[in-house]
Amino acid sequence: MKHLIDSQDLDPELIGSLFSRADELEKKPENTLEGKIMASLFYEPSTRTRFSFESAMLRLGGSVITTENAKEFSSAAKGETIEDTIKVINFYSDVIVLRHYEEGTAAKAAAVSDIPVVNAGDGPGQHPTQALLDLYTVQKEHGQVDGVSIAMVGDLKHGRTIRSLSYLLGKYTDVTIYFVAPKALEVGQDIKDYLDKHNVTYHETDDLSSVVGIVDVIYQTRIQKERFATEEEYKKYKGYYQIDLEMTGKMKPNAIIMHPLPRVDEILTEVDSSPKAVYFKQAKYGVLVRMALLEHLLR
Ligand code: CP
Repeated sequence: MKHLIDSQDLDPELIGSLFSRADELEKKPENTLEGKIMASLFYEPSTRTRFSFESAMLRLGGSVITTENAKEFSSAAKGETIEDTIKVINFYSDVIVLRHYEEGTAAKAAAVSDIPVVNAGDGPGQHPTQALLDLYTVQKEHGQVDGVSIAMVGDLKHGRTIRSLSYLLGKYTDVTIYFVAPKALEVGQDIKDYLDKHNVTYHETDDLSSVVGIVDVIYQTRIQKERFATEEEYKKYKGYYQIDLEMTGKMKPNAIIMHPLPRVDEILTEVDSSPKAVYFKQAKYGVLVRMALLEHLLR
């Protein structure tokens, strides 16, 4: 794997080796990327992805050059194409981590790049490193991925983490997915076609209470305000599903609650102290998984 653009670029063997390396790096970080430079190029806001990639690179002894709000503070503001920007950054760094607001931009960047490009989220497209850390969280907190039943909840139409995670789960055995969303925000046909092709069992419902007690993982997501045409449209769905302590009490004893974050109001803060709430640990695991990935791409 030279670039990581879509979850489909990953296979279970590679994922397994990345997770083993992440486990090792948690116990004993090493300066394996000394002398290497990572460019983080973010055209859309981020807290976790940018900082965790940068933290991962620094923890491995590498260096970071970075621009946040690249739409405004890079030469994109003067009309430079993404292709030209990437060709130039090839001279300055050894790997590029790119977040963009338009689906397909990471693939465009990879097409002209001699150094690895990692898709850190392309609009409503994909977010493969989030899916990797999500899977790592399931493995760490639930014990294994095979056989897991997971409810993906919320804005499934716009959620790139949902797309990337579904594609990854399709590579494992005996997985059951429950897509929980209002009709207008239901999961895309491309994902359903992929799951059909890979014989993954899935169900669709708009009733969260009907699945709370039967799944191993609730994967809650934010209603993505920035992807709605109007504020009025967004407000129809804001707060549509809220996980509270009462609902948490109805989950299976070992079930967990995940969320890619950021959250708005879809998990009440009263849930944070529950042992089922693993969403902050999930963000922590992101550093380990991204350390393993950077090593894999750069060594
Ligand atoms: N989960 C995630 O991608 O978070 P950020 O938008 O803060 O990077």
